Amino acid sequence: MITKLSVNINKIATLRNSRGGNTPNLLKVAMDCEKFGAQGITVHPRPDERHIRYNDVRDLKSILTTEFNIEGNPRDQKFIDLVLEVKPTQVTLVPDTTNQLTSDHGWDTVMDCNYLKETVSLFKEQGIRTSIFVDPNLIMIEGAKKTGTDRIELYTEDFAKKYMANCSEAVKPFVAAAKLANTLGLGINAGHDLSLENLNYFAKHVEALAEVSIGHALIADSLYLGLENTIQLYLRQLKIIQ
Ligand code: PXP
Repeated sequence: MITKLSVNINKIATLRNSRGGNTPNLLKVAMDCEKFGAQGITVHPRPDERHIRYNDVRDLKSILTTEFNIEGNPRDQKFIDLVLEVKPTQVTLVPDTTNQLTSDHGWDTVMDCNYLKETVSLFKEQGIRTSIFVDPNLIMIEGAKKTGTDRIELYTEDFAKKYMANCSEAVKPFVAAAKLANTLGLGINAGHDLSLENLNYFAKHVEALAEVSIGHALIADSLYLGLENTIQLYLRQLKIIQ
């Protein structure tokens, strides 16, 4: 199975916004990511538009040729309206709060089951694939299945943190989570703090990984290695397991 690389371009927007102009050009970077081999582009617009702006999302939709993944918290009606207007390939539902620096936990799919069920069906009715951000917790994976979502996105920060000290222990909960998700017929995505150091190991051990979305490490690597080279290196980490 091919694991697709979706490049999260939030950091490009952060850099652009720091000067108020249009450098770097977000749309050009997105198109170049595709040209250099990425199979998808991810954005995570937040209510304060501190990096990706809502209009960036609209502009990206008209130029992208690969999979477009929009992440965000559907408790914000503006987010729901934007996704329904833009109709990306996939929406990833993330339970982050307004001022959170970055996503730091998955959904409680048991407590929020009815809410997620309604939200998932809203997007699926419009032909948008859905993914729910979850920790590698078997109860949460079972809960995700009950919402009707197409996929889950495994929150990988914990794996990344523990990888250096003990990689086989670090990946264990994710292997078990993926096994259950596969049995339940849920597609599996993953993201957060995946990097050139840990990506290959993760992809090798987590069965039927459909997509990884990677931003921070990939953009940081590209400062040294260049964007084209960096994307090729990330793709190589994923190709070894095919
Ligand atoms: N997945 C989700 C839900 C995220 O919020 C983020 C960060 O925006 C990522 C994946 C990518 O994480 P990173 O930037 O650490 O690669």
